[in-house]
Amino acid sequence: MNNSIFKGRTALVTGASSGLGSDFARQLAKEGANLIITARRADALEALASEILAGSPGVRVDVIALDLGQPDSVDALAKTIADKGLVVDVLVNNAGYGSFGPFDRIPWEKEYAMLQLDIVALVKATRVFAEGMKERGWGRILQVASIAAFQPTPLYASYGAAKAFVLNYGIAVNRELRGTGVTCSVLSPGVTATGFLKVAGQTPTPYQRSSMMASPAVVKVGLRALARGKKAVVPGFGNRVAAVMTRFIGRGTAAVLAEAAMR
Ligand SMILES: NC(=O)c1ccc[n+]([C@@H]2O[C@H](COP(=O)([O-])OP(=O)(O)OC[C@H]3O[C@@H](n4cnc5c(N)ncnc54)[C@H](OP(=O)(O)O)[C@@H]3O)[C@@H](O)[C@H]2O)c1
Repeated sequence: MNNSIFKGRTALVTGASSGLGSDFARQLAKEGANLIITARRADALEALASEILAGSPGVRVDVIALDLGQPDSVDALAKTIADKGLVVDVLVNNAGYGSFGPFDRIPWEKEYAMLQLDIVALVKATRVFAEGMKERGWGRILQVASIAAFQPTPLYASYGAAKAFVLNYGIAVNRELRGTGVTCSVLSPGVTATGFLKVAGQTPTPYQRSSMMASPAVVKVGLRALARGKKAVVPGFGNRVAAVMTRFIGRGTAAVLAEAAMR
């Protein structure tokens, strides 16, 4: 019998057209959740919806293709969801990407759009969808950060800082939500085999190749933390060691090591 707390709930997964987002959708459907999947690539979302419906025929899957990098996109997403008569019980704020390179050589348009997606859209979605969750007295929010959140990361300077924002924001929101029935958890993956590095414009380094985790394993850890309302989780033993280490070696030394790992 499926006793998952996600059974019969409606989960909104952002960035579901690829990588971790696709696996969040697949695993939530296996646990009996209905899905709203969003990203820019409609064809990839439709293909995922067909795959999920074939494997989990009891669930409902709604596809909403849009660009969350646009300023009013979260409001448009919320309106489309409301117009369909749906409410969001579970929010997986996963859409995001990194920009690799020297801080002053990354094209400004790319960096600006990244910050808009990784920070602004995530904050807006949290506010917009947490409201209904609080009114109904139940909800689960998962923020996807990164182990880049734990130390300054040269060559991913603004991406790493954006993920530090996500980590601190998520833990703070979790604290503010206590007693409401709604929780906010932060998942901080290490290097994971997805489209991430290609989009970031980086060839995998020896460190990245040796520490890479599979996306379904990372998602499993994230969903367990989400179900339990745990404030933060780092998947993988090596990643947990790296995340804790900064506290002892200090930010300056951590930045030197992070730069070495990125070259
Ligand atoms: N893979 C890693 O090593 C790693 C490590 C730590 C953290 N993360 C984080 O994990 C999350 C998922 O990334 P991933 O690794 O699964 O990479 P991915 O395979 O490249 O997936 C990124 C997803 O975000 C969506 N997205 C990108 N720009 C968007 C936009 N403007 N509007 C809406 N959706 C957009 C993409 O869909 P479309 O292109 O169709 O829009 C795609 O579905 C990100 O937040 C990333 O920072 C990844």
